[in-house]
Amino acid sequence: MGLLNLNDCHSFGDFRTLAKRRLPSPIFHYIDGAADDERTYRRNTEAYEDCDLVPNVLVGVENVDMSVEVMGQKLDIPIYCAPTALQRLFHHDGERAVARAASKHGTMFGVSSLATVTVEDIAELTDSPKMFQFYFHKDRGLNDALLERAREAKFDVLALTVDTITGGNRERDLRTGFTSPPKLGLDSLISFATHPAWAWNFLTKEKFDMPHLSGYVAEGTNLAVSVGDYFSTMLDQSMNWQDAENLCAQWNGQFALKGIMSVEDAKRAVDIGCTGIMVSNHGGRQLDGSRSPFDQIAEICDAVGDQIDVICEGGIQRGTHVLKALSLGAKACSGGRFYLYALAAAGEAGVSRVLSKMHSEIERDMKLMGITSLSQLSRDNLRYR
Ligand code: LAC
Repeated sequence: MGLLNLNDCHSFGDFRTLAKRRLPSPIFHYIDGAADDERTYRRNTEAYEDCDLVPNVLVGVENVDMSVEVMGQKLDIPIYCAPTALQRLFHHDGERAVARAASKHGTMFGVSSLATVTVEDIAELTDSPKMFQFYFHKDRGLNDALLERAREAKFDVLALTVDTITGGNRERDLRTGFTSPPKLGLDSLISFATHPAWAWNFLTKEKFDMPHLSGYVAEGTNLAVSVGDYFSTMLDQSMNWQDAENLCAQWNGQFALKGIMSVEDAKRAVDIGCTGIMVSNHGGRQLDGSRSPFDQIAEICDAVGDQIDVICEGGIQRGTHVLKALSLGAKACSGGRFYLYALAAAGEAGVSRVLSKMHSEIERDMKLMGITSLSQLSRDNLRYR
């Protein structure tokens, strides 16, 4: 059965199929791909299938409360849209579409240092909780400018990404020659020609740009580079715990490290004053062979769960995945691809639909689990096979 439109999309796989149809293939594979053999990417989702939920019944579940508070932000659902780069490549409304849809569904969204809409423009759209994702560049002037712009625009949380100290080996991007902005080679021209709606919007709407970088790096305007090359050449590989602590102090507000995987690092995040950690392997896009967030979440929550908000990020495709992560102690979950496919499929309407699906799945799953509040989830309702 061929998927025709957004109304036919019910699951993660459906949105992915529609995104694949709508996007030129180098752009689809940029979202869909990961590092090396993509083992970690696959494990991120498979890990959820190694344990099962054990429901209770007969408790009266006509009203369920799905809200959580994470890093001082009240969210209506326990999953938010992780910051991701380059969104106007996926749909011409890009970050604006995600901001509007996330606000409508009462959840947080992240805006990347490599966003294609400015923090100022996003701030005008919504008062909803907003996270700014920070890359630590060699250029300290750029770092200061990014931080102050996010502060001025009243972003609520700053998240420093710590797992991109060098570019991951994304072989799909090497094969397709994906760069940002897209380079026009013969293959990509054919791919654009066979996706005329995308190509029309890309060529006729607001010119593609990464405006937070303008004035600092040529890559911010028009020099086509791969994301891996950007990480390897622009980011500061000497970044260390002292830099993270300084940044946390400079921000002086809700501050998360994105890409923490070890208990040792989780404890250090507490020590330097972070209020959250996003347990993440960057969607399997950096170190292939690294452990999945869900496999790692229990030991991290045991060590620091009462001192800092622990977010489980990556691989989430279902409401039950969120309930499993929360059962192990995560405060909330976040994800990228689940809403990016929806963005590519249909812009704001797509993201809104996927968040609405996630909302009803979590509500249904809570009722079927026999709980009325997420705080009732615990390891007692999980069994490993
Ligand atoms: C990526 C970066 C930009 O994974 O977050 O492509």
